[in-house]
Amino acid sequence: MKVSVIGAGTMGNGIAQVFAQKGTDVILVDTFPDAIKKALETMKSSLEKLQRKGAIREDPNIVLSRIKTETSLSALSESDVYIEAVPEKPEIKKTAIEAISSVARPDSIVASNTSSISINLLSSYCKFPQNFVGMHFFNPVPVMKLVEIVKSNRTSEETLNKVMSLVTLLDKQYVVSSDYPGFISNRILMPLLNEAMLALEQGISTKEDIDKTMKLGMNHPMGPLELADFIGLDVTRDIMEVLYREFGDHRYKPPIILRNLVNSGKLGRKSGEGFYKY
Ligand code: 3HC
Repeated sequence: MKVSVIGAGTMGNGIAQVFAQKGTDVILVDTFPDAIKKALETMKSSLEKLQRKGAIREDPNIVLSRIKTETSLSALSESDVYIEAVPEKPEIKKTAIEAISSVARPDSIVASNTSSISINLLSSYCKFPQNFVGMHFFNPVPVMKLVEIVKSNRTSEETLNKVMSLVTLLDKQYVVSSDYPGFISNRILMPLLNEAMLALEQGISTKEDIDKTMKLGMNHPMGPLELADFIGLDVTRDIMEVLYREFGDHRYKPPIILRNLVNSGKLGRKSGEGFYKY
């Protein structure tokens, strides 16, 4: 099997890695050479971590040798599966999906890792919409056990079955969602993050105590403010914007405290500061 992953950011490199860990040949495409360089470093360090704790038996370099990288969409070629994980902007996704469509076979699966954009909309950019589906992975991909499969009105049963098998091959579990804003996961997660930010904004408590409440009181691995920093505050805001626009519900309205952080370049862990300093 050959898998092409378009977009080598946090999600794209994690997706490429987990397929390579299962012996699959992967082409990882990103138009920014720096993104490819960073992706290779991230995957190496993740694989070394997995090897140290005995979660993988193969040498990380052997796993990495299955991943070929390219820096142009025109380098895309025939694959059994394409997964796009480019930034959450419809026009960028459109360019990627059209490039995939120009080389995909009529039986290739075309998946999007979008966390909030309509799968029906994205499928309209694909030459074979019946083969188009959402495969929403979670960060960090090599660790998180879930893939949310999202079907559009035109996703075929055959496509759905193939994608379920792919998730099982990755030793992950799936849930199936219809194409509704935020699907299952972000529809539920975003109001939680939103409420935590509002609690901080309204001075109800400190960021540490808000996070501690959810960690120790509800057994969440990370508090909501820490998690927003981990996801990326710009990504969190973008997802909330989509949900707020689509549902028109204030539960999803990005709080001012979040907007101010993003506008001042504090994007969470990746920028060195968000709600916390790193
Ligand atoms: N690659 C490989 N292994 C990794 C890893 C990576 N990138 N990151 C962490 N690990 C492993 C560690 O080696 C460790 O393994 P061990 O328990 O066997 O020793 C284990 O994962 C835990 O890692 P750490 O000890 O370093 O740190 P934590 O215990 O704090 O765990 C975490 C880190 C797994 C990220 C945990 O804090 C967590 O689960 N947080 C919540 C993550 C979450 O909710 N993700 C979903 C975000 S939402 C999303 O992605 C959707 C989008 O649409 C918004």
